[in-house]
Amino acid sequence: MNNLRQKVQELASEAINNSEPTAWFEVLYASANGDTAQIPWAKLTPHPYLQDWLENHEISTQGKKALVIGCGLGDDAEALAKLGFAVTAFDISPTAIAWCQQRFPESPVNYQVADLLAIPQQWHQAFDFVFECRNIQALPLSVRTAVISSITSVISPSGTLLVITHVRDTETEPSGPPWPLSESELAQLENLGLQKIEATLFLESRETEVKQMRIIYRQL
Ligand SMILES: C[S@@+](CC[C@H](N)C(=O)[O-])C[C@H]1O[C@@H](n2cnc3c(N)ncnc32)[C@H](O)[C@@H]1O
Repeated sequence: MNNLRQKVQELASEAINNSEPTAWFEVLYASANGDTAQIPWAKLTPHPYLQDWLENHEISTQGKKALVIGCGLGDDAEALAKLGFAVTAFDISPTAIAWCQQRFPESPVNYQVADLLAIPQQWHQAFDFVFECRNIQALPLSVRTAVISSITSVISPSGTLLVITHVRDTETEPSGPPWPLSESELAQLENLGLQKIEATLFLESRETEVKQMRIIYRQL
């Protein structure tokens, strides 16, 4: 295990042992001291599966509001803003949000510190396009149902949810982070009223068998 992966595992298990599964993100961002190489998911470019989807679909953005959940260092939010969405992007880590504002000082994105598990009331059913990338899997199974329900709650009637996530083949609890999603966990999104429109499986490496999915849902 490399040093950074080990650090993430240690911070996450300590936070979970203290019953604060989201507490380690701020510790990680703050201890990076502005060095993006210390943030394992930060690639300083929009996620390629988001980029690919945006390039290959007709998307109407005029007058539309988008929400980026757990926005990290902001590259996905910036990509959606460039396309014409009015974007709100939030993260639980104040350091991550300050970092976004520092990286993109002229940005039209409304960057906010907020907790997915305590969504502001005014965001309820407020967004035409919601982007959820690798955040559900970053939180343990103990909060999964609450996280999924919270994500669903911000989509407007007939709005779209784009999810990018690692998936697992069994219902057995995995060791994480990340904790990839099972079929029954993904099904919770449909049980909450979303309709699956499109699903693409990406097999990243045959050796590690890491599987990711990009799934598009529509709020009925
Ligand atoms: C694995 S990273 C993914 C970041 C980004 N979405 C990406 O794919 O590059 C998880 C992000 O979710 C944020 N996060 C974790 N728990 C959160 C919560 N309860 N509310 C909001 N953001 C949260 C973390 O601070 C971190 O930036």
